[in-house]
Amino acid sequence: MLSHDRYANYTPELYAKQGIMTYLCRRPSDRKLIPEILRIKGKSILDVGLGTGDYTRLLLADNRVVGVDQNPHLCQLPITVYKGDATELSSLVGQEKFDIVLSTWMTDFLNREKLQRFFCESKEVLRDGGKLMTTVIRPIGWGLVYLFLARFVRGVDKHACSTRCVVKMLRVAGFNEINIVNLNSWLGVSWACLVIAK
Ligand SMILES: C[S@@+](CC[C@H](N)C(=O)[O-])C[C@H]1O[C@@H](n2cnc3c(N)ncnc32)[C@H](O)[C@@H]1O
Repeated sequence: MLSHDRYANYTPELYAKQGIMTYLCRRPSDRKLIPEILRIKGKSILDVGLGTGDYTRLLLADNRVVGVDQNPHLCQLPITVYKGDATELSSLVGQEKFDIVLSTWMTDFLNREKLQRFFCESKEVLRDGGKLMTTVIRPIGWGLVYLFLARFVRGVDKHACSTRCVVKMLRVAGFNEINIVNLNSWLGVSWACLVIAK
């Protein structure tokens, strides 16, 4: 079973039920992530791995948003959601180009090779000067606990990537300006970040 298959039989309601991980991981990150999201206005955005579309919902009033997800049934918002993989964006969206590729809490489903392909595909579907904004779990501190719990409690294969490695992979994909915003920390060690790359 691939990790994203765990949502195949989820209803949007079941998905939206908040577990302990939401309180431990999502809530502290949301406090930093939401202001970054609310700053986006007048853009065309591809939300990759949008789930129920919690972040898309915040963007819809001022932007045009299209989604991609392996489980598009989770999203009930009035937008186009392509069923497919983060590693095949250009074939899913055709000729369309975007100002922003956004992805929140999806890259931990991708191993190193797939993450590199996701970065390259994001570059491919961005307009000149467009931005990739994506969260990444780091393999330190609570990040390791998170991976361990996902793997051994839920049976889901999850992945983390160091900032150094992310920067290297983004450069390979053709991104030159890279900003890292720390999102979540535990005992002073930041284990999740928002990567903004142009
Ligand atoms: C943890 S949820 C995050 C949802 C949303 N972005 C959020 O922040 O609330 C991860 C989502 O990514 C999707 N996903 C996982 N791996 C994927 C892949 N390789 N390609 C496309 N979507 C994927 C899952 O189906 C799920 O909807």
